[in-house]
Amino acid sequence: MKIEFVDEAIESLRIPLLVVDSFEGSAASTGTAEHLPATTRKMLEELQSSGELTGKTFECTLIHNPPGLAASRLLVVGMGKRARFRTADLVRIAGAAARFARNKRIHDFAWLTLGRGRTAEGIERIAEGVVLADYDADKYRADRSVDKRVDRVTLVANGAPFTDAERDAGERGRIIAEAANFTRDLVNEPSNNLPPRELARHAQEMAAKFGLECKILGKEEILAKKMGAIWAVAQGSEEEPRVIVLRYSPPQAPAAPVIGLIGKGVTFDTGGISIKPADKMDEMKTDMAGGATMMGVMQAIAQLKPNIRVTAVIPSAENMPSGKSYRPGDVITSMSGKTIEVLNTDAEGRLLLADALAYARELGCTVLIDAATLTGAVMIALGNFVSGVFGTSQEWVDRVLSSAKAVGEKMWQLPVDDEFRDLYKSSIADIANTGGRYGGAITAAMFVGEFAGDTPWVHLDIAGTRWSSDEKPYLAKGPTGTPVRTLVHLVTRNSS
Ligand code: BES
Ligand code: MN
Ligand code: ZN
Repeated sequence: MKIEFVDEAIESLRIPLLVVDSFEGSAASTGTAEHLPATTRKMLEELQSSGELTGKTFECTLIHNPPGLAASRLLVVGMGKRARFRTADLVRIAGAAARFARNKRIHDFAWLTLGRGRTAEGIERIAEGVVLADYDADKYRADRSVDKRVDRVTLVANGAPFTDAERDAGERGRIIAEAANFTRDLVNEPSNNLPPRELARHAQEMAAKFGLECKILGKEEILAKKMGAIWAVAQGSEEEPRVIVLRYSPPQAPAAPVIGLIGKGVTFDTGGISIKPADKMDEMKTDMAGGATMMGVMQAIAQLKPNIRVTAVIPSAENMPSGKSYRPGDVITSMSGKTIEVLNTDAEGRLLLADALAYARELGCTVLIDAATLTGAVMIALGNFVSGVFGTSQEWVDRVLSSAKAVGEKMWQLPVDDEFRDLYKSSIADIANTGGRYGGAITAAMFVGEFAGDTPWVHLDIAGTRWSSDEKPYLAKGPTGTPVRTLVHLVTRNSS
């Protein structure tokens, strides 16, 4: 998709569709609609008084041959109450407008950007919103929606010329949302087409395309590095594990921080010997969403080129039951030297992360941020729309939360507290891999944190947010790409 900018007045713009936004309430509190010519505004006021146009969030009102405009159609998209509006809402508002246009087979539209939406940040959010909206998880369908794709979105300044910062923001938004769509493609991919070796191949291909360093550890290297926890999870599968390392290190960047991005890459999670019930097991093809997130983040970073060092570590394995599987009761030795008693082979994500965190520290990361579809418990606690945030460094937790807020991804901090440590004590090893049902998301997070040592660490449990089980006005059903945008924002904001 192309994001373009024009400075001229809207009246004369020949375009299949012009989008303006409108707040809920009185005629005085309209959004960019208030910059329309008087004749057009008069018509909107009539629609308002008849109750057809209210400005409620995501409401789409389409007008053909709008008076006073050269555009063939005008779309008024609702933004809700002005007092509650935040710039981050533009992602979803732009998404709703874009999906409305797609459904009408309109491939080329303009957006009037003046007033509240007119900041570089607002433009970045609009660009993200339309690119995220222009995605369907329909690769394997004969009736896939290629003919719906948006080719071009033109931002219209209406005589108040765009600044360079605003133009750059449009490009940034496109890059970031396309990276999130790359993540979504990987999450959507069925496990028969995406075993660990394929995930690694996608990483290599992306790294070659965008100029990142990429190193893949295979079975031999994993065993040589004594990554006993990763190996334990992988050993039940015919598919060999991989550890994917992606590196972005601009020579002029300061030596520290080195941000470590660790993502769980379980390409299919049957639960292993502690096997999961059949119902919804298909959803476990998405258990590599954390890893795919970090691949998307690295793709965006490679293009945005912030002045900061970033290393992604993605441990990838398939969790299968077989005659070669690890078993409940087994004791394994992790790369860090800590021994782990496996009480449940379905708590495999934390095992992969244990070795990956140790490896990221060995590679010189000075901050560790992991994302993982780690627990069903986080969905019980926070539902499907909010990711769980945990960490030992309140400073970095706050940075993550503030980036999430800025880009419109919902996150909520849950506690880590030493009192929980007793729950995952083992009677025979240093630590056990489960801590019981109560506080399940917390004990899982804390287990991972045990391998961060004294390195500041933040953990994102995205089990609930990786996937949307129904279509939204602004987003297709399926993989969401969360939390790619938050992490790109975090990395670029902390660059020097
Ligand atoms: N991948 C799952 C968590 C999950 C569940 C992700 C639902 C997305 C949707 C994880 O490996 C798992 O199985 N966790 C167990 C841990 C338990 C055995 C301690 C869980 O949450 O039930
Ligand atoms: Mn599991
Ligand atoms: Zn899992």
